[in-house]
Amino acid sequence: MNRRHLLAAPLIAAAAVTSLGLVASAGAYAQQTVKIGLILPMTGPFASTGRQIEGMAKLYMAQNGNMVAGKKVELIVKDDTGVADVTKRIAQELVVNEKVSVLAGFGLTPLALATAPIATQAKIPTVVMAAATQMITAQSPYIVRTGFTLPQVAAPMGEWATKNGIKKVVTLVSDYGPGLDAEKSFKEAFTKAGGEVLAELRVPMANPEFAPFLQRAKDAKPDALFVFVPSGIGSAVMKQFGERDLAKDGIRLIGTGDVTDDDILNGMGDVALGVVTSFHYSAAHNSPENKKLVEEFKKATGMRASFHGVGGYDGMHLIYQALKKTNGDADGTKLLEAMKGQSWTSPRGPVSIDPETRDITQNVYIRKVERVNGELFNVEFATINNVKAR
Ligand code: PHB
Repeated sequence: MNRRHLLAAPLIAAAAVTSLGLVASAGAYAQQTVKIGLILPMTGPFASTGRQIEGMAKLYMAQNGNMVAGKKVELIVKDDTGVADVTKRIAQELVVNEKVSVLAGFGLTPLALATAPIATQAKIPTVVMAAATQMITAQSPYIVRTGFTLPQVAAPMGEWATKNGIKKVVTLVSDYGPGLDAEKSFKEAFTKAGGEVLAELRVPMANPEFAPFLQRAKDAKPDALFVFVPSGIGSAVMKQFGERDLAKDGIRLIGTGDVTDDDILNGMGDVALGVVTSFHYSAAHNSPENKKLVEEFKKATGMRASFHGVGGYDGMHLIYQALKKTNGDADGTKLLEAMKGQSWTSPRGPVSIDPETRDITQNVYIRKVERVNGELFNVEFATINNVKAR
């Protein structure tokens, strides 16, 4: 090559990178540091999701060290404030400027969806730790999920209800992806087993006002009200449920465990007592792994462990296991392949990553809110083993 070519070559290479935008991670696996970009709502109405996941990711690293297969793991935490455009911009910056090997976090469905095209284009494994609409994993072959899906946990509730004297239900869900998933899956299972859904109520996500919906539910005189609201919103529903005296009319409150999120359950008071939910994680889960986690998380952060946090803890475990399997090679496609089919004992019980769907298979528990040693807990009393995400 003559001098002109020598000068031009890097320019051409740079132009190629710019036009493709997101190929900058090529060769990143050869680096000594493996960076994980953790994008979370750390401020705004869903900040509790961010605090849980960040706290758990840091706890996992404190327990397991930051060296894996000879590589140093570095966590970069970014606040997307729960706004999808911000998530997308941060994901792009993390890939192009920070050259992260893994993207992770995603506190809400729209935030995961906004990142899916970047995961695909950059070939970066993207670990969804919280967002739970079923179709998320189908949006990119590079998405893997360590939280749960609404259909996975809502259908078992439909089956349990009919077997326990609940014949007529009104459903009340937040009007977006996971709410619609919960509504549909609960209804399918419940009606198949002989139940009847009297009304399907959907509450807007922006400025949710539950009172008029709860009044409509009360007027329909169901045996139970089935609720899905994203974590953090449950206290408002519970308060209104109590104030409108639905329980006094003999209407039970059932739902997926988002409504009795461990993070806020204890502040809900007696109105929460007896609420039955189906879910994949409870801080009261009786296993040595969980007892250790709950204790150490409380010590490290002052918070009670909750399901989003455990999605983050297991997400870190999956990344560590995959890096071990590739002997520290953080090439995106190799890391993704190493994540498929992993199985382990999580604080929530046995879990595995389905190699076909890249979604999580796990136990679903039926739980009832009880007071234990003065505090409110979701006490598990039945288990449905190895439920696939669907
Ligand atoms: C979601 O937006 O996917 C989501 C958020 C919080 C939950 C469940 C689902 O508790």
